[in-house]
Amino acid sequence: MGAGTKIIVATNSRPGSAKWCNAFEGSLPDTQFIPWDEAGEPVGADYAIVWQPAPALFVRETRLQAVFNLGAGIDSLLGLPELPGNLPIVRLEDAGMAEQMVEYVVYGLLRAAREFGVYEAQQQASEWSGLPPIDRLRWPVGVMGLGAIGERVARAVAQLGYPVAGWARRSREIDGVQVYGGAERLPAFLARTRVLVNLLPLTPETENILNRENLEQLLPRAYLINVARGRHLVEQDLLDLLACGRLAGALLDVFRSEPLPKNHPFWSHASITVTPHIAAITLREDTVHQIVNKIGNLKKGLPISGRVSREQGY
Ligand code: GLV
Repeated sequence: MGAGTKIIVATNSRPGSAKWCNAFEGSLPDTQFIPWDEAGEPVGADYAIVWQPAPALFVRETRLQAVFNLGAGIDSLLGLPELPGNLPIVRLEDAGMAEQMVEYVVYGLLRAAREFGVYEAQQQASEWSGLPPIDRLRWPVGVMGLGAIGERVARAVAQLGYPVAGWARRSREIDGVQVYGGAERLPAFLARTRVLVNLLPLTPETENILNRENLEQLLPRAYLINVARGRHLVEQDLLDLLACGRLAGALLDVFRSEPLPKNHPFWSHASITVTPHIAAITLREDTVHQIVNKIGNLKKGLPISGRVSREQGY
């Protein structure tokens, strides 16, 4: 009997697991994709493909050689005490998300810089009144987090002619982007930024990084675009800084609690635009292609990219 490979697919819902299982079906020879069943028996899986899986998965499946995350952020996975400390984790890299993130951020930037919010309000009052043309130099953009997605976003904004800087753990060269590396360079990065874009991974070091102390260092009338995780932002600090006019607005796709509770003040805030965690959605085909290639390489003993460092937390 051929040994074959068993891959368990576990998302945060039974239909989700079945849907992803179908997407992977037939993508690798001699491989069985098995949807996670909370009430099921151990299947002896070799790999797991997951998005916010039931913690029991890691108790029941003890032969796993690696776990593949169906998203870029692995914060919720690393938070599971059941996750074995030595199990390799692989996250998605771009997989169609960078392009969507570029669109979302450019929308937020142009909405702020071209003052489309003002024109929307004017239309409500049937008011015909043009504002002076914008000077891009007065709209420096700062991208926090220069991974596969952040780098693409920074490059795209630079191409539009806006001054762009990036902030990352370590400094490196990106054409057209001024890179600030390390915690000690954060103040200088913030001080030159008017539109702050957060694309950082969520780790103990970056949690609550969008707080009063940091946001106050931005240029006057700054905007925040948060497309990473809700726990990066201290929500009350944002509300306070908007109230006193220190910040001019925010476009938020992620929240500490999702779905955003019905009575949350962000919903009705005149200077906050809310979207329901849709900035960049995991695309099925790109994802299948990426994970299948990586499993193929692992089986051949070849190195793969996207391996999570437990120490760094991403
Ligand atoms: C989405 O939020 C992701 O982490 O891919």
